[in-house]
Formats: sequence, C-alpha cells, structure tokens
Amino acid sequence: MNNTNPAIWREAAEELSIDRNDVQVWRVDLRTARCEIEQLRQILSNDELQRAGRFYGQQHRERFILARGTLRRILGRYMNIHPEKLGFSYINSKPEIMPELDGKRLRFNISHAGDYMLAAITADRMIGVDIELISVDRPHLRIAERFFSHRETTTLRALPEPQQIGAFYACWTRKEAYIKARGLGVFRGLDCFSVSLAPGEAAALTETESDPEEIKRWTILDINPASGYRAAAAVEGGDVKFRFYDWKP
Ligand SMILES: CC(C)(COP(=O)(O)OP(=O)(O)OC[C@H]1O[C@@H](n2cnc3c(N)ncnc32)[C@H](O)[C@@H]1OP(=O)(O)O)[C@@H](O)C(=O)NCCC(=O)NCCS
Repeated sequence: MNNTNPAIWREAAEELSIDRNDVQVWRVDLRTARCEIEQLRQILSNDELQRAGRFYGQQHRERFILARGTLRRILGRYMNIHPEKLGFSYINSKPEIMPELDGKRLRFNISHAGDYMLAAITADRMIGVDIELISVDRPHLRIAERFFSHRETTTLRALPEPQQIGAFYACWTRKEAYIKARGLGVFRGLDCFSVSLAPGEAAALTETESDPEEIKRWTILDINPASGYRAAAAVEGGDVKFRFYDWKP
C-alpha cells in the first residue's frame, strides 16, 4: 500500500455516511471558523466552557472553543443529532462519544496546530491523528534523542542534513498519531516503538517492544494538510479507504 495522500481536500456531501473501512479526515481552517465563535461557544457543554475559561491566554481559549465547537458540528452531522446534545467521556484525557448516544459507534480523534485542526472519524476503528506546524529552528536532533527510539534516532542521524527536518516531522507525527490512536497517556513509552521515517519509505509502524503482531495491526498514513504543516493518521486494521474533507462553516 502506498501510504501517502496526494492532498485532495473536497467538500463533503450534505448527508454524511461512513462504513467500517472508511477513515474520513476533516480539515478545519480555524481562521475561517472564527466568524462563528459565538455560535460555537453556545453549543459547548458547561464543563467545556469551564475548561475554555481555564486556558491561559485568549488565543488558546478561542482555539479550544473553535475546535471543540466545530468537532461537535461535524459529529452531529454524522449522527443526525444537534451538536449540543453530544456528550463525551474521557480515558487518559482522550474524548470518546458517550456510548448511549452513539448507535453507529463513531470514533474520532482531533489534533490542532497553528491555523488548522484535523478531525479523523471512523466507524468503530481506533484512530489517532496528529498535525504539526513545521519549525526549522527547533533542536531536532536533541528532541529526537529525548523522545524517539534508538532505531529512529540512528536513522535520522544517518540522513543528509537537508533531509533531517522532513524525516523528523514524519517520525513525530506518525508516532503521535499511533500513540493517540491507542489513547496512551502523554510521554509514555515513545521510545518503546518505532515508525519509518526515511524519505521515500512508506509510513508504517516498524517495531514494538510489546507485541510483534502489533506492527501488522495498524495502518499509518501521511496527510498533507497545508504548506508548512505535516500530519499523519494511525488507524486500526488494514484495507482502509481515506477521504479528505474541508469543513465549511
Ligand atoms: C496530549 C497528546 C495526546 C497530544 O497532544 P498535542 O500534540 O499537544 O495535541 P493535539 O492537538 O495533537 O491533540 C490534542 C487533542 O487530542 C485529544 N486527546 C487528549 N488526550 C489524548 C490521548 N491520551 N490520546 C489521544 N487523544 C487525546 C483531545 O481531543 C485533544 O484536544 P482537546 O484538548 O481540544 O480536547 C499527547 O500525545 C502529548 O502531549 N504528547 C506529547 C508527547 C511528545 O512530546 N512527543 C514528542 C515527539 S514524539
């Protein structure tokens, strides 16, 4: 399988449907969503409003409202219910739709960076997504040594310098997507598994310390969200059909 996305972001049909083999990834431009921040605020639950209020700084507060409000709108369309009626439960801070609301067993994961949020939706497959804003000024090798596995760091170091930043972000987003799909806690065991990262190598989980079968259990896909960003999704199982939609407020 060629795990790259040629980045064809389309407008979705009015009626949304999703099958067991689908992964539907939504790209939300938070700058565009800002025009409806007041309406989005009104569909948040009390605990979400309290959480928004606890963010330090208006930018973070607004980003949470825009992201969570838009997520509610997207999920509400799949489930054919009013967005404010949705309820979430949390395991390790990972939100899931309350089972009693969700006859379709929708699963989702979101990630935000810079001006974008990605929301990846499946019908009952574990899913994780990560988007990062590329920064050339980061101490990439130092971060890699702290968080990446031995195999990943060795591969990264061996690359010619101009290829290292791309490989670093490929590795980072694939790792985060996988760890988010599994709903693992933060900073847990990032060095205990490896993903591919060399240029031209298909996105994949390549090594785990726990269960060797785990490698075959996951599909990893690179997503091209916008210039200057890098993203990846990890989904349980194979034979997956990805679709990419632009959210229109
Ligand atoms: C919290 C974490 C899950 C992602 O954090 P992040 O990259 O800062 O944020 P993202 O925007 O990608 O994702 C945040 C969203 O993921 C969801 N989320 C929260 N906890 C989660 C978990 N344990 N698993 C999966 N998803 C989770 C939430 O919806 C959250 O958005 P919300 O707060 O608006 O509800 C976590 O993986 C993390 O902090 N990792 C940092 C590890 C690290 O330093 N890696 C370095 C290189 S590998």
